[in-house]
Amino acid sequence: MSTSSGPGVVGNTDPTALTEGLRLAGEDTRALHSVVQSYELADIAAVLVDEILFRCDPPGNAEPVVIAMDVTRGEERHGTSFLVQVGRPLRRNEANGPAALHIEFDVIDLVRELFGPAGPTGPGGPATRRTALQFVPESVSVDGLRPLGPIMAAASTVLTGCSSDHPGLARLAVRHDSDKWGGLHWFAPLYERHLHHLRTQPVRVLEIGIGGYDNPAFGGGSLKMWKHYFPRGLVFGVDLFDKSGLDQQRLRTLKADQGDPAQLTEIAERHGPFDIVIDDGSHINEHIRTSFRALFPHVRPGGLYVIEDLWTSYAPGYGGNEDPEACGGTALGLVKQLVDDLHYEEQPAKPTGGVGASLAGLHLYRNIAFLEKGRNAEGGIPDWIRHAPNS
Ligand SMILES: C[S@@+](CC[C@H](N)C(=O)[O-])C[C@H]1O[C@@H](n2cnc3c(N)ncnc32)[C@H](O)[C@@H]1O
Repeated sequence: MSTSSGPGVVGNTDPTALTEGLRLAGEDTRALHSVVQSYELADIAAVLVDEILFRCDPPGNAEPVVIAMDVTRGEERHGTSFLVQVGRPLRRNEANGPAALHIEFDVIDLVRELFGPAGPTGPGGPATRRTALQFVPESVSVDGLRPLGPIMAAASTVLTGCSSDHPGLARLAVRHDSDKWGGLHWFAPLYERHLHHLRTQPVRVLEIGIGGYDNPAFGGGSLKMWKHYFPRGLVFGVDLFDKSGLDQQRLRTLKADQGDPAQLTEIAERHGPFDIVIDDGSHINEHIRTSFRALFPHVRPGGLYVIEDLWTSYAPGYGGNEDPEACGGTALGLVKQLVDDLHYEEQPAKPTGGVGASLAGLHLYRNIAFLEKGRNAEGGIPDWIRHAPNS
């Protein structure tokens, strides 16, 4: 029925360029057909299978089950088989064992499902409607001895990876081991409130602080969470340490010191502008201020700059100050300054030195600030209204 293939791109194709093409073409029918015709089907399937492996729910069936999947383009077809078993992540079935169930997708449908701007779909949504599903007869006709339950559970696991269903951020934080939800921090619903409208856009996200510090194998939890949350997104992580072992499709790590504005500017000029920048790095107050000054200009209008862990403003070990009246040089000192910058046109001197003209809004919650980039130039309250009532 289908042949199994290993991971990666088979031809001379640049996998990054192909992924970029698919990611950006998802909603544009002509661009999508053009990208899909420009590459080997096997190369396209390799990118799509990587996404399925990353996005699918953890397997729940105790007994190992092999599921075969064909991606078709006209008469052409490319096969992959998956091994599904509880306690282990879904993976390619390199041994090419017999499949219990066969799934088939038209390549355009699958790209649309994975990289299109479709809204959330529940069971019975487009993914299942457009997919051909067939039990492989030998797997079910052995005197009825093999129950269908595990096969159906395994198929469902693979299909969760093929679906445009969008799990919530709190769920994704737990799934990918980020501390942005539960226990230490309670940021997930706040991020959801401010980022939800960008969810199906091909956003570029930069987060300072990958996690795991000098251990090259640890960290990356929040980067994977963002990759999953933004199915068409491209995620960059910056850390003081080399984290290149965590690089994967749509997720790139970069080594830099957030206290050095020149390094941040170089990154931004190369990979920006960004839709979202998040500072979850050293949490040293001076670093937070330096990074904001260097990177806020590289956030695109309509985008957001987020600063986490504002509590260090009161922690001397991070360059903070226990006295709230003396927090001028801290992260919260920056936020308080931004409140004035936001109102620069209402001030008699109309100061132009701050970022006020490109700060569209400021949303402050406990320990986290969302700074909205955008044009802020209404002109200010006219002088004839400004003077005191009845004066
Ligand atoms: C709290 S962890 C990040 C956690 C991650 N964002 C998450 O939610 O899964 C902080 C990271 O910042 C990095 N870091 C510390 N100082 C830094 C600096 N000066 N520049 C860049 N990264 C730094 C550390 O190496 C560490 O990996």
